[in-house]
Amino acid sequence: MNRNLALEFVRATEIAAINSARWMGKGDEKAADQAAVDGMRKMLDTIPCQATVVIGEGERDEAPMLYIGEEVGSGEGPELEIALDPLEGTTICANGGNNAIAVMAIGQKGCLLNAPDIYMNKIAVGPMGIGAVDIKDTPTNNLKRLAQKKGCSVSDLTVIILDRPRHKDLIQEVRDNGARIYLIGDGDVSAAIATALPDSGIDLLLGVGGAPEGVIAAAAMRCVKGDFQGILVPRNDDDIIRAQKMGIPDINKVFTMDELAKGDVMFVATGVTDGSLLKGVQFKSWGAITSSIVMRSKSGTIRHISAEHHFDRKPVY
Ligand code: FBP
Repeated sequence: MNRNLALEFVRATEIAAINSARWMGKGDEKAADQAAVDGMRKMLDTIPCQATVVIGEGERDEAPMLYIGEEVGSGEGPELEIALDPLEGTTICANGGNNAIAVMAIGQKGCLLNAPDIYMNKIAVGPMGIGAVDIKDTPTNNLKRLAQKKGCSVSDLTVIILDRPRHKDLIQEVRDNGARIYLIGDGDVSAAIATALPDSGIDLLLGVGGAPEGVIAAAAMRCVKGDFQGILVPRNDDDIIRAQKMGIPDINKVFTMDELAKGDVMFVATGVTDGSLLKGVQFKSWGAITSSIVMRSKSGTIRHISAEHHFDRKPVY
């Protein structure tokens, strides 16, 4: 994959972030998401590639834009697949909270899992935790092995978990082991990446979130050389059928990081609101400043891009 493409794709997350950040704290999730989608969709067609959305805003009949299967890009160039979330953390943005991002993962054709929009049980660790975690094992055993690998005690570990009633038992088990917990309202893509950031203070992500977000997070974890594993969590028979329709016959399959996002993958994200990974959009009298991250699995290069957008010279804004 042409490495310069990553710098093209960041334009799409930048515009999605700027558009949705205007809705920060205004309590309107739909408008914030729509603004992100509109911006990202427009920018994608300027990028020299023939890309298919494999994870997007929903099925064709559910979403007018960026639906699964939609062809995007200029129509010339490499054939790619994109897993995207124009606004990861819609509620966060609408409530003016932390860690909303515009995000996408890009892979070669056939490299990103076409995950159904159902739940996934996830575990993620940074590079120091590789080999220490197993999603089929208990939180207790995973904590013990991770502490051993990191040369600390379990009580020194911090686990990031989505604050949901479904995680009551998980939270209790982590507490019983003496580990610290960082509960988040939304946004488990940033949460997974946080496990690999040396200054985040986060060691482990546990719990159930969206499967599409799992694929995007797996791409990011490949770039930072961490680990990510996932198992689909169907709520009913319909979820099982949806998975089967998307080519997943075994609902209990453990997906490794490489099965979720294989080959040469890129990850790009722009902060919408301030967070552990990225600063949010700052509006100025002349335009806006965005903060983005661009990563490639092949080279392992991680670029932090701060961009000034002068609206009078960029009609797209
Ligand atoms: P959105 O991008 O739809 O706002 O998703 C936010 C999110 O918190 C994800 O990060 C997470 O995977 C998922 O929702 C969890 O789903 P639920 O809110 O149903 O528990």
